Formats: sequence, C-alpha cells, structure tokens
Amino acid sequence: MTVIVTGGAGFIGSNFIFHMLDSHPDYRIVCLDKLTYAGNLATLESVMDNPSFRFVRADIADRDAVYALFEEEKPDIIVNFAAESHVDRSIENPEIFLKTNIIGTSVLMDACRKYGIKRYHQVSTDEVYGDLPLDRPDLFFTEETPLHTSSPYSSSKAGADLLVLAYYRTYGLPVTISRCSNNYGPYHFPEKLIPLMIINALHDKPLPVYGKGENVRDWLYVEDHCRAIDLIIHNGRVGEVYNVGGHNEMRNIDIVRLILKELGKSEDLITFVTDRKGHDLRYAIDPAKIHRELGWLPETKFSDGLKKTIRWYLDNESWWRPVISGEYQEYYEKMYSCR
Ligand code: NAD
Ligand code: TYD
Repeated sequence: MTVIVTGGAGFIGSNFIFHMLDSHPDYRIVCLDKLTYAGNLATLESVMDNPSFRFVRADIADRDAVYALFEEEKPDIIVNFAAESHVDRSIENPEIFLKTNIIGTSVLMDACRKYGIKRYHQVSTDEVYGDLPLDRPDLFFTEETPLHTSSPYSSSKAGADLLVLAYYRTYGLPVTISRCSNNYGPYHFPEKLIPLMIINALHDKPLPVYGKGENVRDWLYVEDHCRAIDLIIHNGRVGEVYNVGGHNEMRNIDIVRLILKELGKSEDLITFVTDRKGHDLRYAIDPAKIHRELGWLPETKFSDGLKKTIRWYLDNESWWRPVISGEYQEYYEKMYSCR
C-alpha cells in the first residue's frame, strides 16, 4: 500500500505519519507538503531516513506537481490534512484559505479520478457545523447536523466537504470524511490555544484569553484522532462522514488555569483581551457512529494528555524555539499588540 499524506509536516499530519509508520510497517508513506509557515521539516526529522518514507515539497493546488507525484507513486490511499488551519488568520486574510482548502482539495480529487485510487480521505473539522449554545449541554453535533459555518476557515472546510461528497455522487470517487473536534498534543503550532498558553507561561508573558474565556471546545488527544483516521480509511464505509470526538468539553479559561497550575505559574498572567470576531461559543461532538461502526473510542484522558503535552513542550524547546522566532513574532505583534 502506498499512502499519500498531504500536510504531513504540520501538527496532525506528522502525528499521523508516525502512527502509520508504526502501525503499518509494510506501507509506503509519501508526505506531500508545501511547507507554509505551519509546516516544519524538523518535525519529520526522525523519519526522513526511513526507507518506507518519502517527503515531497509541493502545493496541493499545483495540478502539474500533484499529477506528476500520482504518476510516479501510483498511490492507493490519499489522506488530505493539508490546509490553512487557523481561524484568526482566516479572519485577517480569507483568500489563501479558499485556494488551499477548496481548490487544493479539488485538484487532489481530480488526480484521484485520473489515476485511480482505493480511497480519498478528507480530514475535516467539527467547525463546519457552526456552534452550539452554552446553555444547552444536551445538544451535540451529529453527522446529520446541517453545515452552518461562522469563519472563513470553517466555510472553506465546509466547501471542501461538499465538494468531496459531490465527487462521490457525481464520479463515484471512493471518499470518506472525518470531522474531528479540537486536537492537542506534540508538534502543535504555537499560534493555537494550548501551545500558545504553555509557551507564554514559560516566558512569564501575559496569557491572552479572548472575551471572558467561556467558550467551550471539545478536546481530543492527537493520537486518538490518528487512530480514528486509520480505522476509517481501512474499514469506513465509502461516501460516509464520521464525527470524531471524546466528549471532553472544556471552557478556555479552565484550560488556561490548568496549564498555569501544572507549570506552577500565577493566574495573574491571565489577560482578558478583545474577543475573536464571530467567535463560536461551543463545539461538542457526538461520536456514536464511529464507535458503533468501527469500534473507535478515545484512549487518552484529558488530564493525562494535557500533562503529557506540557511535558513534551518542556522537553522539546529545541523544536519550538526556532518556530517562535522571526515570522511568528511579527504575527504575534500584529494579532495581539492592540487587542
Ligand atoms: P497545521 O496548520 O498544523 O498544518 C497544516 C500543514 O499543511 C502544514 O504542514 C502546511 O505546510 C501544509 N499546507 C498548507 N497549505 C498547503 C498547500 N497548499 N499544499 C500542501 N501543503 C500545505 O494544521 P493541523 O492542525 O495539523 O490540521 C490538519 C488538518 O486537520 C486540517 O485540514 C484541519 O482543518 C484539520 N483539523 C484540525 C484540527 C485541530 O484541532 N488542529 C481539528 C479538526 C480538524
Ligand atoms: P484555537 O486553538 O485557535 O482553535 P479553534 O478556534 O479552531 O477552536 O482556539 C481555541 C479556543 O481558544 C477558541 O475559543 C479561541 C480561544 N483562544 C484564546 O482565547 N486566546 C488565544 O490566544 C487563542 C489562539 C485562542
């Protein structure tokens, strides 16, 4: 089996590559990544010399490059993680989200049609369902919940999902889609909540909590997400959507407090800042379908996963230190200085 993993130099894609090389040592894994600000070859350092692994730098929206790779590798499975993934950046500059997340997805699927594949898997997000009210803890996103997006990011992901289902219906492309809740774990880019708060706390810098910190996200340890995708690409039904989440809802402020406690830092570092535009209130996944059909259950409890993640950032300063220099500093200044 040859599997092309797009976006494999990013957070979840890299964890998925490690998972696949471990769980399927007879597979060939080809990573296709443009290496945007979020892609980092240092993340893949430990597998670069693995004979079952190949890295190719290319844009998923570059038709010639994508077709050339399919011609050469004749892949069986495509797992598309490549995306612009940060809501705040999408609010500043939506266009690149449309190009990568929608056009890129269509180019990949055109290549799948042209060269033939066994499975195209689209890594999507619970954000395509929009948000749930804070005062209705009985409500969850199921696969039947209508798409109702809030940000340019989630809209571009929803557009891609619709296109994937259209390629199934129109061309019979063997597709699956997973819609996962917020992930956390090693190699998470420090623009996102958990790594940003860990790294700021380590520097005794203010922890910028949007609004009152009451927004709720449903957190899943990244390895649990990777196992879910592995199950879906092998045993999931073609044309189906699978929600992935572990019933682990947390308010942002409570996560920030947990991080400070774990690091032995003062809560005085918490700074409430201007809220995100269109900020989704609550995400909460109903994972009954993937449990029922594929037997998937999350394995890592949030308290353990958060401790492991904090430990990882403490032990891997050599990974994140270069990431937060240069361009990241400019980004941070622009997004947070006047907030
Ligand atoms: P990330 O931003 O950490 O990584 C994205 C990767 O894609 C980077 O390596 C980047 O270089 C690459 N990339 C970007 N544009 C590309 C292009 N045009 N061509 C090729 N490569 C390109 O993102 P992540 O958090 O690992 O998310 C991966 C996927 O999972 C995304 O599709 C995202 O929508 C989805 N998702 C993420 C979460 C989460 O909590 N992070 C939750 C659910 C779903
Ligand atoms: P984020 O990690 O950007 O993921 P998403 O918006 O895709 O869920 O943000 C998670 C939550 O944390 C979200 O409600 C916004 C909030 N947040 C802050 O309060 N401060 C920050 O600096 C960041 C990056 C996020």
